Amino acid sequence: MSNNLLKGKRGIIFGALNDMSIAWKVAERAVEEGASITLTNTALAVRMGTISELATKLNAEVIPADATKVEDLEMVFTKSQEILGGKIDFVLHSIGMSPNVRKKRTYDDLDYNLLNSTLDISAISFHKMIQVAKKMDAISEGGSILALSYVAAQRTFFGYNDMADAKAMLESIARSFGYIYGREKGVRINTISQSPTMTTAGSGIKGFDGLLDFSNRMSPLGNASAEDCADYCIVMFSDLTKKVTMQNLYNDGGLSSMGMSLRAMTQYNKSFENDFTDENGNIIYG
Ligand SMILES: NC(=O)c1ccc[n+]([C@@H]2O[C@H](COP(=O)([O-])OP(=O)(O)OC[C@H]3O[C@@H](n4cnc5c(N)ncnc54)[C@H](O)[C@@H]3O)[C@@H](O)[C@H]2O)c1
Repeated sequence: MSNNLLKGKRGIIFGALNDMSIAWKVAERAVEEGASITLTNTALAVRMGTISELATKLNAEVIPADATKVEDLEMVFTKSQEILGGKIDFVLHSIGMSPNVRKKRTYDDLDYNLLNSTLDISAISFHKMIQVAKKMDAISEGGSILALSYVAAQRTFFGYNDMADAKAMLESIARSFGYIYGREKGVRINTISQSPTMTTAGSGIKGFDGLLDFSNRMSPLGNASAEDCADYCIVMFSDLTKKVTMQNLYNDGGLSSMGMSLRAMTQYNKSFENDFTDENGNIIYG
């Protein structure tokens, strides 16, 4: 259902690989809400993924670019303004990759060249993107920039490895640049901290199925889907959130405020003899 929340707005969506990608859902929702957009991803991802299907469906152009390369980012902002006919109102950074995770290097045996790549791809690219946009004065007054994060930036999760450090840095960049860009141009910068979601990047995390189930049981509202995340992004791109900036916003069904839930405890206790319900299935306490 469309509420025309982004009517007349121009946006750039980084990171749609295939129809499981969170960026894919955001792109669909943005166009549904009246925006015109360009899509961008690495040349390899454009070849290996299915982004061109999305582009056809949404009548959007794909601009191949490596988000770690400043000259590529300059090209993305130049071309996007030409194609869309003016300054950009919103940008989504939906990019993450850890070569250490891919190569199964554990956190106490990191390859430091690979760590540099993890940080460059997953966090510093966000800084590069914003710096390029600001120097080119490519974002309209009151524009909105978002990146996607994960709660492992605040708390330790088994198997998340050096991506936790990248996410902590990503959230810090949103605050540091949010101050400067807000002060000078009224541009908002935030991160959305999303539930585990079954995507190509997500499924690379060690023990992902267990993590997905655990988060779902721990969250009073259950895991947020990619579609839920897209809805939140649309609100953050819209004029309904004009004064929200420098925030890390949880879209996680409540997980980040939980310590232990009945559903998670019940599953955990399957190996023990405890039971928290009476003979009628009513919860005894809690
Ligand atoms: N899936 C989850 O569980 C989850 C949870 C919280 C946050 N996130 C974050 O959401 C974002 C999107 O990931 P996703 O889950 O949709 O997976 P995805 O694999 O669909 O998207 C990751 C994207 O990053 C792109 N990318 C990698 N290197 C790049 C580079 N150098 N330049 C430009 N693009 C590059 C990939 O091509 C891909 O399109 C990531 O930041 C991820 O960390 C994901």
